[in-house]
Amino acid sequence: MRTDNFPKELLAMINGQALNKNNTGMSGSEVYESDRIVLKIHSSADCYRDEIRMLKWLDGLLPVPKVLYNCVFAGKSYLLMTKMQGKMACDAAYLSSPEVLIPLLADALKRLWSVDISCCPVKRTADVELAEIAVRSETLKTTPFMLEEGFSSPAELLDYLSCHRCEDELVFSHGDLCLPNIFLTGEKLSGFIDTGDAGIADKWRDIALCWRSLKHNTDGTYGRYEGVDPDRLFDELGIKKDSKKLRYYLLLDELFH
Ligand SMILES: Nc1ncnc2c1ncn2[C@@H]1O[C@H](COP(=O)(O)OP(=O)(O)O)[C@@H](O)[C@H]1O
Ligand SMILES: [Mg+2]
Repeated sequence: MRTDNFPKELLAMINGQALNKNNTGMSGSEVYESDRIVLKIHSSADCYRDEIRMLKWLDGLLPVPKVLYNCVFAGKSYLLMTKMQGKMACDAAYLSSPEVLIPLLADALKRLWSVDISCCPVKRTADVELAEIAVRSETLKTTPFMLEEGFSSPAELLDYLSCHRCEDELVFSHGDLCLPNIFLTGEKLSGFIDTGDAGIADKWRDIALCWRSLKHNTDGTYGRYEGVDPDRLFDELGIKKDSKKLRYYLLLDELFH
């Protein structure tokens, strides 16, 4: 890793610790980690503003990394934070033990819902997201899932989602509750990372992404593990599968690709 172009304060905080590259993420950040710290770098300015805002707001409310240092320097965004201990929920040890993993995922969702949203500073409801998407409608991409679901363009999907709003059941929502963003230690939740899309939203926003991530990590899309039924997540949550809301939030997520 080249560090000669890093801000001086950042170099002082890293203090010579060896950082290894982590290639898990898919959002364009470069991620480097030691045993204790994680550094995210993005080639665009002010890219971690929302993530940092939520990490600071969540400090003391949920187990999330502590922000150690952040800056925008020479057009790049830097975020240095503490390392979440444990393993990602997509670790082979968990994917091969669904009887341990699925209750822990349900626990993760319930922990999020236990946060008091009355003073949460960010709203990420479908109305807010649809309004944001509408502003950048000419940059939206067509995805295979959209086509499979019968939409010929992002504009058609945006129109459908705007006309078929479901009633909101508002909770604190992580916003990208896929398995690599949930950390587990033994049979306990360690915490959440990657909080840039967190805020008040319908509870099915996180259920949908968690369910799909469990499915894709086990059905051969990313990896294959026998005997994993993603629908067991609903049993653990004690709620009935709402296929309409599940589909709605998976389709909404397609407009963020
Ligand atoms: N604070 C952290 N503690 C432990 N691992 C982390 C931390 N932040 C990032 N990572 C690792 O880097 C990966 C990508 O970082 P993430 O913040 O999720 O970015 P992306 O938006 O690219 O998914 C994570 O899935 C995880 O493996
Ligand atoms: Mg992530």
